[in-house]
Parts: sequence; structure tokens; C-alpha cells
Amino acid sequence: MTFDRSVKIAPSILAADFANFGAEIEAVEAQGADWIHVDVMDGHFVPNITFGPAMCAAIRPHIKTVMDVHLMIAPVDPYIEAFADAGADVITAHVEAGPHIHRTLQAIRATGAKAGLALNPGTPAEAAAPVLDLVDLICVMTVNPGFGGQKFIHSCVQKVTELREMIGDREVHIEIDGGVDPTTAPLVRAAGADVLVAGSAAFKGGSVSNPAPYGENIKAIRAAAG
Ligand code: DX5
Ligand code: ZN
Repeated sequence: MTFDRSVKIAPSILAADFANFGAEIEAVEAQGADWIHVDVMDGHFVPNITFGPAMCAAIRPHIKTVMDVHLMIAPVDPYIEAFADAGADVITAHVEAGPHIHRTLQAIRATGAKAGLALNPGTPAEAAAPVLDLVDLICVMTVNPGFGGQKFIHSCVQKVTELREMIGDREVHIEIDGGVDPTTAPLVRAAGADVLVAGSAAFKGGSVSNPAPYGENIKAIRAAAG
């Protein structure tokens, strides 16, 4: 993974056909996805359950781009090794998921994966300040995590501006997760984001047998982001 701040569209497989992840991933990558965003939920940190390391390992061979694993789980530390072994390129943990985010980020980097830090909408940018040199990505949640298809929370855009300022020259991606579509992408891009996660807006209208809409959706988000 080389670093740059160009726009990267990361479709979230939370919005794909759960019975057909391999083919869905191949279809959305063929249609222009830059990264594949993988939402892991535990029914404890967030009120929804998706899948774990075994599923990540199973889909890994289908991903040619970047496997971006977003852990919405608590605790995080006992599972880091398993997600790294599953082949995650980026492992993102929430600052709200436990008392030892510094240790968690160190543990992620120790596996060789890139370390991501996610901030819920109610968490200020300052929460990232003490660990800026330990992260490769900051994920700004623009919905409350747990479900796809929620409404973008506009007050989070200011946080992106603050984080971009705090990051300075560090090679840290700013990722936006939740409610990204062609109307909200330009707002977060202008504020300094480079990785745009899109679930419903990427997968809407398409399928494995009719993947062209995936390409149109991705193109529309990228064009709007500018
Ligand atoms: C929400 C997840 C998101 C979700 C985004 O908890 O972390 O990645 O898939 O879905 P949309 O783009 O539909 O808001
Ligand atoms: Zn996510």
C-alpha cells in the first residue's frame, strides 16, 4: 500500500449480497472500487452482528485491492491477530471500544497491518491527538455505527477539517464512513478526506448479474468528490 491523498472509493460489503460476497467483491472491483470495506459488528459495541475473522479469511482471495477491516467490536485486542491472519491490510478500531486505544494501535501495527482509529459522531477530534503518530488512517463516522443506509450527520464535517489540520504532513488517511453519496462526498472531500466508504450508495440498483450500476454509482461519487 503506497500513500497518497487521491480520492479512494471503498464500497462496504455490508450492502452486498451476504450469500455471495466473493462474486460481489469481484464485481465491484471490476467496476472501479479502490478498496473493499469490511464491517465487523459484534452485537455488543454496536447493536448489530455481521461476521468475524473466518469470513474475512474466506473473502480475502477475492480482494485484489485493499482489505479495509472496520472493527465495531469490544474488546478489540483479543481478536487483532485473527483479523491480521485473515489478511486485513488495514485494521480499524474505535477509540470508544476500550480504555487502551494506544496499546490496541501498537498491537495492530505489530502484526504488519496498517492501523486505523475510528471516531463515533459524539467523539471530538481531540481524541485522536495523543495517537497521531501511531495511526495510518482515521475513520470519521458520519453516522452512528451499526447499520447501513442511515442519514449523514452534517455536524461531523467540521471534525474532518480539524483532523486534517492536526494530521499535517503525516501520512494518515482520513476515511469517511456513513451516508456517503454524491451529495455528501464533496463536503468531506473539501474538508480533507481521501477514503470514502459507501455502502448503499455504491451497491444500489446493481447485482452480480447486473454490475454496471455499481460502476455508475462509484463514478458518480468520485466525480462529485472532485
Ligand atoms: C456503519 C458501517 C458503514 C456502513 C455504511 O456502521 O460502518 O461502513 O456500511 O453504509 P452506508 O454507506 O449505507 O451509510
Ligand atoms: Zn464501516
